[in-house]
Amino acid sequence: MNFYISPLNSSFHNRESFDCGKPTLNDYLKKIAGQDAKRGYSKTFVATLDSVDNPEVVGYYSTSASSIKFENIPQHLSKKLPKYPAPAMLIGRLAADRRMQGQRLGETLLIHALDRAVRVSSEMAIFAVKVDAIDEEAKRFYLHYGFIPFQNKELSLLLPMTTILTIDKITNNRN
Ligand SMILES: CC(C)(COP(=O)(O)OP(=O)(O)OC[C@H]1O[C@@H](n2cnc3c(N)ncnc32)[C@H](O)[C@@H]1OP(=O)(O)O)[C@@H](O)C(=O)NCCC(=O)NCCS
Repeated sequence: MNFYISPLNSSFHNRESFDCGKPTLNDYLKKIAGQDAKRGYSKTFVATLDSVDNPEVVGYYSTSASSIKFENIPQHLSKKLPKYPAPAMLIGRLAADRRMQGQRLGETLLIHALDRAVRVSSEMAIFAVKVDAIDEEAKRFYLHYGFIPFQNKELSLLLPMTTILTIDKITNNRN
């Protein structure tokens, strides 16, 4: 399956039939993502099948600048860090349409978002990519990719930039 990822264009992309199985994530894509982009609150990138000229959205992720409180950074990572918030890129939402689930679209979206974090980090310091999982099932997806749960916050996880830089699929994308 060939997936193409491009910035959400509200007047072009068709999101009506999108269904990832989680109503909050469906509604965000259909009703809020475009507004949030205009407000400067998040940017949404959508996946389409076969070409960027296909308007039918089958997956998406959204990103924002963020930070992680010092007390939420697991102790094994925070030992040498200053005691103020660490800069982060947030993947606020990430979802694959049910018809595509199990065909590596989730992974494609995640790797694309992590690759974006690497590129952004060349201009703006990013200590880690942060995710807020919508539930325990979503949390297991991120754990599968090495994300580390926050200290004292059940559904938030982080992946340090130093780890992201060692992921083969990321380095391959950049070469
Ligand atoms: C979670 C989600 C993004 C996964 O997407 P997907 O396209 O079905 O997953 P992929 O086919 O890319 O799976 C890649 C790998 O992740 C694993 N995986 C997928 N979902 C998983 C889950 N919930 N828990 C643990 N592992 C998971 C797959 O088994 C596969 O493993 P492998 O590398 O050993 O083969 C998708 O199921 C989804 O959109 N769910 C609803 C929304 C949601 O929960 N989003 C999460 C962020 S809030």
